[in-house]
Amino acid sequence: MPLSSGLEGQRVLVTAASTGIGYGAATAFLKEGARVVINSSNKEKLDGALARLGPLGEVHGVQGNLAAKADLENIVRSAKSLLGGIDTLVYVTGSPKPGRFLEMTYEDWRGASDLLVVSPAYLAKLVADEMISTKTGGRMVFLSSYVIKEPTLAIALSSVCRAAVLSLVRTLARDLGPKNIRVNGIMPGFIKTGRIDQLAQDQARRRGIKPEDYIREIEGEIPLGRIGTTEELARAIVFLGSDMSSYISGATLPVDGAVLRSI
Ligand SMILES: NC(=O)c1ccc[n+]([C@@H]2O[C@H](COP(=O)([O-])OP(=O)(O)OC[C@H]3O[C@@H](n4cnc5c(N)ncnc54)[C@H](OP(=O)(O)O)[C@@H]3O)[C@@H](O)[C@H]2O)c1
Repeated sequence: MPLSSGLEGQRVLVTAASTGIGYGAATAFLKEGARVVINSSNKEKLDGALARLGPLGEVHGVQGNLAAKADLENIVRSAKSLLGGIDTLVYVTGSPKPGRFLEMTYEDWRGASDLLVVSPAYLAKLVADEMISTKTGGRMVFLSSYVIKEPTLAIALSSVCRAAVLSLVRTLARDLGPKNIRVNGIMPGFIKTGRIDQLAQDQARRRGIKPEDYIREIEGEIPLGRIGTTEELARAIVFLGSDMSSYISGATLPVDGAVLRSI
């Protein structure tokens, strides 16, 4: 029997989705027949994404900065009113600036904590309140990074702060399971998006190499020999964000071409 996602008509909120991983996830949910709200902080980029996604199905946009409390509240309120509720939350966020530990200031740590720790936790609380009040249950999928298992010195803020998401997923899965809410995570390795270009530029500047040299270096580290695509990652997000994964909760899945070494 072919697997069916069962996502037709399901209400999905995808954050940080004007480009890259979030955009890829929104595309995949729309192709499965879901009704989707996307968010990002830049209105022009958000409008551009909406124009490209529109032909795929019902999609709305809510502008908002995931690091701001009032914006998080507005994103959930708007998604609820546009879709009538939320069945699946896909949490993607922006990137903190790259760089090593000794370069970071107090403000850098505050900013990264707001974006990578407070934001997923508070958004989850708002969405859980909604799922519990309507007694529909639901699913949450939190995107983080393989660096939560293997800190990378060149992205200190990300390596430290994102580790909280691993615990958030487990904590919520155990706390919200009795309310029929499943919570899972995904730790991507290297996925071809603007973030990889940003890291390649940063490494090129610091080390006097070409960005394409950095890309070749990365590919040499990945056992599957190449950087992944947003489409490949989106298939895993759809799996965890639908009832295809009905007995999985509290898991964090690497989607990384086996780049992760730790067990
Ligand atoms: N690509 C990879 O290999 C990889 C691997 C592991 C983890 N990640 C992480 O995955 C996340 C997505 O990255 P990506 O690779 O898809 O990069 P991307 O193409 O640069 O996408 C980043 C997205 O985040 C949005 N965004 C940024 N700051 C935001 C904010 N404060 N509030 C709301 N939206 C915001 C951006 O839209 P606006 O500019 O319109 O706000 C954009 O849609 C990042 O956290 C990245 O660090 C990426």
